[in-house]
Amino acid sequence: MASEADILAPGGAQPGTYYGCGLPYLSIENCPGKIIAIEGTDGIGRSTQIKLLREWLEVRGYGVVETGWTRSILMHPTIDLAKASNTLNKLTFVLLYAIDFADRLEKEIIPALKAGFIVLADRYIFTAIARARVRGVDRRWLRNLYDFAIVPHLVFYMKIGVDTLARRVLESRGMDFWESGMDMKLGDDIYDSFRTYQTKLLREYAALATEFNFRVVDARLPVNRIQQNLRSQIGAFLDAEPSARPTSTG
Ligand SMILES: Nc1ncnc2c1ncn2[C@@H]1O[C@H](COP(=O)(O)OP(=O)(O)OP(=O)(O)O)[C@@H](O)[C@H]1O
Ligand SMILES: [Mg+2]
Repeated sequence: MASEADILAPGGAQPGTYYGCGLPYLSIENCPGKIIAIEGTDGIGRSTQIKLLREWLEVRGYGVVETGWTRSILMHPTIDLAKASNTLNKLTFVLLYAIDFADRLEKEIIPALKAGFIVLADRYIFTAIARARVRGVDRRWLRNLYDFAIVPHLVFYMKIGVDTLARRVLESRGMDFWESGMDMKLGDDIYDSFRTYQTKLLREYAALATEFNFRVVDARLPVNRIQQNLRSQIGAFLDAEPSARPTSTG
């Protein structure tokens, strides 16, 4: 029999239920699907891992849906516009992101859960909370704002130090305005600003990791080692969840 520790999710709430009031017009009782969130800061390697996880899960016969920040059809153009002009108040930004999440929750995540899919979330509410906290938004207000979210079944946190992160981002696609926290006016030099901002952000992620009981993954390791770790934990979780088993092995 599962112990309480097994069935309680990050933050002590029941996975697959709403944190709070939820979307009052959408019942999510007894949905067979699962939400697996990969959290971690900018450029850390989330997409790389999610692509590999998706392939592995599909070969095992699971239906997979991916979701990620600012990808909602409703909010994507507005958020792009808001980022391009950078004239909005920080709370307005927070609310735009929350609407993006609400739209994806209703149109992508909940339908997928009802249909028994595995939802691979490329960041969940925690990134939005961490970014807002760094910008001084009230902790409790943020928790209440995201009360409509569903408690994920698994949250993996890809952990890294700022030195390795800065090197990885420089070697891949370089640093952009928002990932460097340039809106916070931490400095004129994008590299210095990136380091200062990401250090603050990593501190917030660390606090959230404790608060919500994330499964921490060492993101400094090579891609295949991280993937092995994720697969072994996800495989064990799914094997113990009869409702998540695929009906056909393909
Ligand atoms: N474990 C790893 N070790 C070294 N480099 C890695 C590792 N994982 C990913 N990378 C490289 O880091 C870069 C960013 O990876 P990826 O796009 O997966 O990150 P991301 O977290 O999805 O980034 P973004 O925040 O832009 O969405 C890529 O060039 C990728 O090849
Ligand atoms: Mg990515």
